[in-house]
Amino acid sequence: MLFLGIDVGTGGTRAIVVDVSGRVVVAATDEHVPFASPQTGWAEQDARDWWRATAGAVRAVLAHDGVRAEEIACVGLTGQMHGSVLLDGKGEVLRPALIWCDQRTEEQCRALTEKISAARLIELVSNPALTGFTLPKILWVREHEPQVWARVAKVLLPKDYVRFRLTGDYASDVADASGTLLFDVARRRWSAEMLDESEIDHTLLPPVYESPEITGSISPEGAAETGLRNGTPVVAGAGDQAAGAVGMGIVRVGAVSATIGTSGVVFAATDRPSLDPLGRVHTFCHANPGRWHVMGVTQAAGLSLRWFRDQFGAGADDGRDSYERLSEEAATVPPGADGVMWAPYLMGERTPHLDPHARAALTGLAANHTRAHFIRAILEGVAFSLRDTLTIFGEMGVPVESIRLGGGGARSAVWRQIQADVYGQAIEIVEAEEGAAYGAALLAGVGANAWPSVDAACQSVVRIAERVEPRVETAELMNRRYRGFRALYPALREVGRQGDK
Ligand code: XUL
Repeated sequence: MLFLGIDVGTGGTRAIVVDVSGRVVVAATDEHVPFASPQTGWAEQDARDWWRATAGAVRAVLAHDGVRAEEIACVGLTGQMHGSVLLDGKGEVLRPALIWCDQRTEEQCRALTEKISAARLIELVSNPALTGFTLPKILWVREHEPQVWARVAKVLLPKDYVRFRLTGDYASDVADASGTLLFDVARRRWSAEMLDESEIDHTLLPPVYESPEITGSISPEGAAETGLRNGTPVVAGAGDQAAGAVGMGIVRVGAVSATIGTSGVVFAATDRPSLDPLGRVHTFCHANPGRWHVMGVTQAAGLSLRWFRDQFGAGADDGRDSYERLSEEAATVPPGADGVMWAPYLMGERTPHLDPHARAALTGLAANHTRAHFIRAILEGVAFSLRDTLTIFGEMGVPVESIRLGGGGARSAVWRQIQADVYGQAIEIVEAEEGAAYGAALLAGVGANAWPSVDAACQSVVRIAERVEPRVETAELMNRRYRGFRALYPALREVGRQGDK
């Protein structure tokens, strides 16, 4: 019995096959066309490209010797959250999706907050109106492209478009729906009041399920394009953060993860919808039924390093992965990067600043500094930014018993140590550090009754591979540097203000 997890990410779609012992049998990724940014702060992708990449990645895993389509007992979906896939009555894509990091909707967020009030927004949907969330995006399309809006019959999240192509069904899950601003997170259902307030017809939205519930099965068309068996059940799955947390065993109170992918997320499982009155962290349903989670998001975490690589190169090509070479270069510079500091606001910022206009900066440069200082400063600056979320968890009384690392930030030994030192706490790496696709595969396993619950699945398959302790002196240095980091954003905001006058 095997389970297939599919993660429709930003950079690519990853398919992963897992067996009942939790072992990864095979995984494959098909890259996406990079997102288009036709104006500063805009980010768009064609949903049909996600489907192309899904079919490619699934075909690749099914080509593996040890995997036959008949053995796949269930499929789980996950993916980038908050996007807006707009379909017409025939299920055709009407325009490129505005994806999670798109920041064009400041005006819509302001209008929503004025109309509904910040306090009532938190009451209805547990979160403030943020530029990246789905509702403001569809309001933007309604205002700016009325000819497109007039034809919209369905609004889907990214992975749910892939589900539609796989099964022919419209469906979503509580965790991903939480990031739309249309979902009553506390009661785990669409918010009738919010739909009313924003004048959105409820028929535009798909039905919502708990993450391990089965929503449908692979259709003949889905089977023909992917090689999957017609009739294979598909579970609701979850947004990438909740699914990634399941994959790392972050399902009980006290368990926290810090994941650095394109974005960076610090995620804590909770047994109730814990709220930050300032709305600096998101309060969403967990993929584990009956649980919630809070998370803070750094918009440009891994993106900071990718941006550096793409602009300035990764050093001489010696056949190794470019990020490995960058990490090694960073290691040639001492902790603290000799005073160089990176504020990672390449795509505005969510936690803690909630500012789509925030901009990145490299500070503290002197003539003796090198590329390596820049790279180390990026790794440290991203970790400082993630620490901002841990600081807020402290203020909210969210317990942090252990921190597990995920994403690219867990794969680099240098970045692992930097995170332990910056968080001032031991960090753990799990054995199958396979990201959200792995969690989606576990949810599929629960859907197929291989495990009785998400807790049981995690208990049976998630194992710790490594623990990294903070180094006392370096952690102290990082505490001092963190104070400097906290002073950076207000200063940069002032520079921006003066410069715009
Ligand atoms: C979470 C978020 C990102 C995206 C992209 O709120 O915006 O994790 O899902 O991966």
